[in-house]
Amino acid sequence: HLRHVESMKILPSGAGNISRLNAVILGESLASEENDLVFPSEEFSGQALVSSPEKYLEMYKRSIEDPAGFWSDIASSEFYWKEKWGQQVYSENLDVRKGKIKIEWFKGGVTNICYNCLDKNVEAGLGDKIALYWEGNEPGVDGTLTYSQLLQNVCQLANYLKDIGVKKGDAVVIYLPMLVELPIAMLACARIGAVHSVVFAGFSAESLAQRIVDCKPKVVITCNAVKRGSKVIHLKDIVDAALIEAARNNVSVDVSLAYENHSAMNRESTNWKEGRDIWWQDVVPKYPTTCEAEWVDSEDPLFLLYTSGSTGKPKGVLHTTGGYMVYTATTFKYAFDYKPSDVYWCTADCGWITGHSYVTYGPLLNGASVVVYEGAPNYPDSGRCWDIVDKYKVTIFYTAPTLVRSLMRDGDEYVTQYSRKSLRVLGSVGEPINPSAWRWFFNVVGDSRCPISDTWWQTETGGFMMTPLPGAWPQKPGSATFPFFGVQPVIVDEKGVEIEGECNGYLCVKSSWPGAFRTLYGDHERYETTYFKPFPGYYFSGDGCSRDKDGYHWLTGRVDDVINVSGHRIGTAEVESALVSHPQCAEAAVVGVEHEVKGQGIYAFVTLVDGVDYSEELRKSLVHAVRSQIGAFAAPDKIHWAPGLPKTRSGKIMRRILRKIAARQLDELGDTSTLADPNVVEQLIELADR
Ligand code: WTA
Repeated sequence: HLRHVESMKILPSGAGNISRLNAVILGESLASEENDLVFPSEEFSGQALVSSPEKYLEMYKRSIEDPAGFWSDIASSEFYWKEKWGQQVYSENLDVRKGKIKIEWFKGGVTNICYNCLDKNVEAGLGDKIALYWEGNEPGVDGTLTYSQLLQNVCQLANYLKDIGVKKGDAVVIYLPMLVELPIAMLACARIGAVHSVVFAGFSAESLAQRIVDCKPKVVITCNAVKRGSKVIHLKDIVDAALIEAARNNVSVDVSLAYENHSAMNRESTNWKEGRDIWWQDVVPKYPTTCEAEWVDSEDPLFLLYTSGSTGKPKGVLHTTGGYMVYTATTFKYAFDYKPSDVYWCTADCGWITGHSYVTYGPLLNGASVVVYEGAPNYPDSGRCWDIVDKYKVTIFYTAPTLVRSLMRDGDEYVTQYSRKSLRVLGSVGEPINPSAWRWFFNVVGDSRCPISDTWWQTETGGFMMTPLPGAWPQKPGSATFPFFGVQPVIVDEKGVEIEGECNGYLCVKSSWPGAFRTLYGDHERYETTYFKPFPGYYFSGDGCSRDKDGYHWLTGRVDDVINVSGHRIGTAEVESALVSHPQCAEAAVVGVEHEVKGQGIYAFVTLVDGVDYSEELRKSLVHAVRSQIGAFAAPDKIHWAPGLPKTRSGKIMRRILRKIAARQLDELGDTSTLADPNVVEQLIELADR
């Protein structure tokens, strides 16, 4: 079983030298040293699309030396273009010193991503193949859609949207849970050239309103309610409240299209506004099941997705059509070693980028069968995931470390009572996966048989940036390994100077890749300032990263004011602004703190207005303020009452000290002499466990 890899040249990007490595025998329980390697079995590598590090290097090298050739070969052989792109495959400027930041791929190419997801596959004979397996919240409630059926459903909705006046370039907000209607709505927008903006159905009315005000949609698509676990959530009431709030900001939405989700709530009990609200089931099925795709330019916008940054205002990340299409499909195919016989399940919600690229577009472009699960992963018990894996014979299972850790805590017996024999590739996304969770995922869930693709990427990158190719790389538990084709990661120091070899620094990318975002909606300046100014010449990811002696990359977490809670990106400034909106809160400072299951928890220091006393009741109402302004997923885990905050003499909050206090690393507070009032630190420590 032992396979040693011959020494290889270090690539400019640092896709490294993997000689001198200790091999581990696959299937044996793994030792705990970080640098242990886990090799894919010969059987796996033998059938893999990329079967060895050498093969990867050969392809990688070409992708870097000749990006135009590499990507245009893929784009022309695997996608349908009504018209081919112009002379230049891509053009870019990533250097603020040279002018406006610009990224374009396949410009002049005319295509439609929905056509490529559906019509193209139906024409290739996959009409009767299952496109979506839908698994409801309650075990036993399920359904399927073949590629032909999905196409018909998408066309009906597309025709309806056109009929109510939605045109190419118009925004459509989608606020839906994981029903098949969610990917259907995304695809229907794409089909007519409308720009979808999916808002995760865990966001509050205020957050939804903020997004509606920013992108001014013609229509909002939602459903009346959803059951998560045993709880019923009235989504339409949230939309109604958001529309009232949007109207206060002079943005009115003509139509609210609501899917009647019988299993959660009937229409009789749903609040309704005549003239604005329409039941999906009353109109959509009446429309024809064919609809000519709107042919769009490769650089026409496909979707907006709001994500958190280091200020209070969410950023509308804008992706365009052609490059995103080619990139999501290609990354999906190689990172999961996709074969037509696979059944694929990604546990992410389409409200996040993972659901966009790897529930909807990437897999459907490949003609894959995709499981869409409505409910919570531990309902009715912690074995539900493996029940679903066995039920649909899932071969590729893609999830987040937070879920792995929570299931790991619940005990192996929930896993081992299911067969899981169908599984062949596992995937992880959203935050660094700690080696112990990696090992449990590998040994217990995958029976030491399935490689884990630890995919590092971001809303902004559209698709995977770093990931093991499962048949090629020996893996190190917790490392995202090496860059995907066409990606040139660099690690820089504080001055923006590239560091070679073994190092630790800020993760940047040089040169563009097809899936890169093109701008922040309505704010190109913020796009340049946030991502391209910190280290001129590079795209700055906001993440820290180290590279080991073998060239493997290890993500170390965000280096900006963004925290990562259960794989959800949350800006500390957003939580702070929700807290200070509370009438009794004078000031707030939020930091991330290590959390056993969530990865990071939200820790809030709160200063109250003069004369108000801290109480349990007040704590609850502060937490409530965050839930109602952002959503339950952003609720602080801890409120730390702070009579004062540690500030420099110029008034800047010293978060470094707050992070140490939150982590109770009280002997590592460092220099506090520059504080305006060093006594506040003592006070904070005293109140820590109140
Ligand atoms: C983090 C999710 C380590 C990272 C796709 C990034 C990861 C942020 C990984 C983006 C990973 C995502 N290893 N960290 N495999 N994947 N991250 O935009 O901090 O919701 O910047 O996109 O998640 O979060 P986003």
